[in-house]
Amino acid sequence: MCGIVGYAGRRDALPILLDGLKRLEYRGYDSAGVAIVGSALQVMKDKGFIANLEAQLPPLKGSTGFAHTRWATHGAPSKVNAHPHVDCTGKIALAHNGIIENYASLREKLQARGHTFVSQTDTESLVHLIESYYDGDLEAATRKALGDVRGSYAILAVHADEPGKVIGARNESPLVVGIGPDENFLASDVPALLRYTDRVAYVMDREMVVITPKGVTIKDLEGHVVQREPQRITWSLEDAEKGGFEHFMLKEIHEAPQAIHETLLGRLANLEVDGFLSEGVTSVKLVACGTSYHAALVGKYVIEEIARIPASAELASEYRYSQGATERPLVLLLSQSGETADTLGAAREAHRRGCKTLAICNVIGSSLSREVDKTIYTRAGIEIGVAATKTFIAQLVVLYLIALKLGQDRGTLGYDELDRLKDQLRSLPRAAQYVLNKADEIRSLAQKYGAEAKDMFYIGRHANYPVAMEGALKIKEISYIHAEAYAAGELKHGPLALLTPSTPVIAVVAQDPTYEKMRSNVGEVSARGSPVLAIGTEGDKELPKFVDDVFEIPSLPWIFSPVPVSVALQLFAYEAARIRNCPIDKPRNLAKSVTVE
Ligand code: AGP
Repeated sequence: MCGIVGYAGRRDALPILLDGLKRLEYRGYDSAGVAIVGSALQVMKDKGFIANLEAQLPPLKGSTGFAHTRWATHGAPSKVNAHPHVDCTGKIALAHNGIIENYASLREKLQARGHTFVSQTDTESLVHLIESYYDGDLEAATRKALGDVRGSYAILAVHADEPGKVIGARNESPLVVGIGPDENFLASDVPALLRYTDRVAYVMDREMVVITPKGVTIKDLEGHVVQREPQRITWSLEDAEKGGFEHFMLKEIHEAPQAIHETLLGRLANLEVDGFLSEGVTSVKLVACGTSYHAALVGKYVIEEIARIPASAELASEYRYSQGATERPLVLLLSQSGETADTLGAAREAHRRGCKTLAICNVIGSSLSREVDKTIYTRAGIEIGVAATKTFIAQLVVLYLIALKLGQDRGTLGYDELDRLKDQLRSLPRAAQYVLNKADEIRSLAQKYGAEAKDMFYIGRHANYPVAMEGALKIKEISYIHAEAYAAGELKHGPLALLTPSTPVIAVVAQDPTYEKMRSNVGEVSARGSPVLAIGTEGDKELPKFVDDVFEIPSLPWIFSPVPVSVALQLFAYEAARIRNCPIDKPRNLAKSVTVE
């Protein structure tokens, strides 16, 4: 995720672009840059926050241009990888948010034709491609170039010889036009524009837009003009930064389908997972903290189920104490931030033990990525809420990909089975969206079960046991309700003593091989008078007979049920915390990344 903002008008572009860009800093802040067309094309960029760029900017003159704040996906955060990227003539500048899937082959072809590349980014291929088609018309060249590109993008481009014009285009990354008198704007998100205009038009997938001081033209990729009525925005600036959602956490829960989609992009067809090699892997140890540890536990079940390789999960803070093993598993270290001290310590310990290490991380260039042999990045975009939500979902997606890759390479999965699993993975954004579409139902369930509760129990089995653990962690950290998670079979070994009619039990009863046993466990709970909310599967006619309420996830192969169930439990925790007036994005005593042991 990155932020882009463009301007074509009569005023000096630079202050407007910088002001807009600062309102998009929540979308990424590892580097920033601007391109202004005045008497020539002027480009400035640097690593670090926007303030760092601003401090060194000369007063660039010109009333057309764009700016970019980056959250790296390809190529480490650095000055050279920062946007804008410029073609060989130095006349075209481009900024991009998204991922060009086929960038490597484009780069190879363009290099063979004599184009010189200076960065490691996917974006640079596109600016050279536009250059190769340029014949005096930036719009036409960009249209042709986009015809050759696969992937997601919101782009802005300018040409030194076409002042007063900014070209934009969108596919699966957001782009909005701001319409003003004698000036027009483009941006990734409304907050960047709101100070200047409240009239906006949304650019849709596979559309291009040209802004000049005099007007806005939206066309499809075939060049046909599209009529789009502007809308008036009534949000305040603060509301707009959260995309109209009340909290960042809620916005981020709603970004799960996009996070899944981006994390799968370009990786499914040939299971090319950032150079991950399964050669010689005979067992896997997954190590992490907090929410990432719960993903690790799901990963253990998923890898064993799909790839038939022994896997175990361990808390990073405990890993160093489990001495004595002679085996050398592949050690997977999971961390959203890549800065968690316990996980960094575990990575060093794994190396000391002679193990190969692979990180699953959401932040390019983080400390963890420098400690391990390889890193696979989740592409969930920046996460601001302290409670991890969409990044947990993206971690699950990477774990499915790893399991498929291991299964394929070890021959435990046949072609048909592999294809079937890939198709099911492709359907996960829809499964997450199905749950999000029922947010109102979750709100009333949270009112019923979460408004007054002092204690709660979460239960599940198999891969949905760690999902129950994650559900309990979410409700603890943001609503301050005391919650315990148990493998459902364990209740009868002690915790049943704590159940009373005022202790709600949230039970994950997916249609998996543990279904019958889960139903018995739910029966044991109901018999003690505890109210039971089950997360069940669409069309399950039996479950409602055993529980007080059922929230249905879509019917999908059980191994993938942790994804929609987790989205439902995240929303449930959010709604309970909202009803209880808790400071959701900044819960007490917690920090987004924990850099002490
Ligand atoms: C989850 O909501 C918490 N923010 C916390 O448990 C977090 O998952 C943990 O601190 C690990 O962080 P990491 O994924 O950045 O390593």
